[in-house]
Amino acid sequence: MRHLMNPLDFSVEELDRLFDLANEIEKNPAKYAHVCDGKILATCFYEPSTRTRLSFESAMTRLGGRVIGFADANSSSAAKGESVSDTIRVISCYADICAMRHPKEGAPMVASEKSRIPVINAGDGGHYHPTQTLTDLLTIRSLKGHLDGFTIGLCGDLKFGRTVHSLINALVRYPGTRFIFISPEELKVPDYITEMLREKNVPYEEVIRLENVMPQLDMLYMTRVQKERFFNEEDYVRLKDFYVLDTAKMELAREDMLVLHPLPRVNEISVEVDDDPRAAYFRQAQYGVYVRMALIMTLLGLAS
Ligand code: NCD
Repeated sequence: MRHLMNPLDFSVEELDRLFDLANEIEKNPAKYAHVCDGKILATCFYEPSTRTRLSFESAMTRLGGRVIGFADANSSSAAKGESVSDTIRVISCYADICAMRHPKEGAPMVASEKSRIPVINAGDGGHYHPTQTLTDLLTIRSLKGHLDGFTIGLCGDLKFGRTVHSLINALVRYPGTRFIFISPEELKVPDYITEMLREKNVPYEEVIRLENVMPQLDMLYMTRVQKERFFNEEDYVRLKDFYVLDTAKMELAREDMLVLHPLPRVNEISVEVDDDPRAAYFRQAQYGVYVRMALIMTLLGLAS
């Protein structure tokens, strides 16, 4: 039995197979409309989410399966003090697969150790968000045709953004990747990540001004300042509008640069950019459903 905790749990070859399947589903959804008939997905969300939870629910429903779960820790037995280990043992009796989001780093991992069903980490605190990473990789691969050799700018809250940490981890496996980290001093990417990049000889730069690096980028991954992970409101208010991607900045970018964003967006991308053909974030949300369909099938052993 397999779980998905970290994007690196799948080899590059396994990811290629997963993405091939996701593209296959995109082309021919009717063929997959019943592969999960009779199967149940449990969504255990201890932290707010719209996209991730609903995209899992949509994915399972589109495969013909059913969904149970909770979207708020206060409405679950966690409010009575139940541990995630006990919860997952019980959920294992009710469902065939579980997607879990938790504010504590490592909680889905703890759950997976006691689980009798595959557990998918749907975001654990500021740590990882592997299904968002699968979404990001599938989007890039589908729109660009490959995943190697790109210069990727990651902009915004690189300190607390788990989507950023997950994506960097996954992209270092593709040759020719180069990172440009664009953030204010206070929201720089954590040291453990830059240390890992130096160890692996992956080139990266850290800059503050987005305008200066725009022309170099193949991809710009914008992120929201993660309000819920700040210790004080003042710091959040000071930093929240540090970057706003607008049409003037887009003029500095290459014709074929893609703008990605895990969403939700707050102010960091002006709505006027939405009509730019390079804005790929809503297409990215669509790929999130296909990749979760492929993942559910794969973890349930229904992929071949
Ligand atoms: C992200 C998350 O939850 O980390 N959202 C998502 O899953 N699409 C990004 C965010 O909340 O900023």
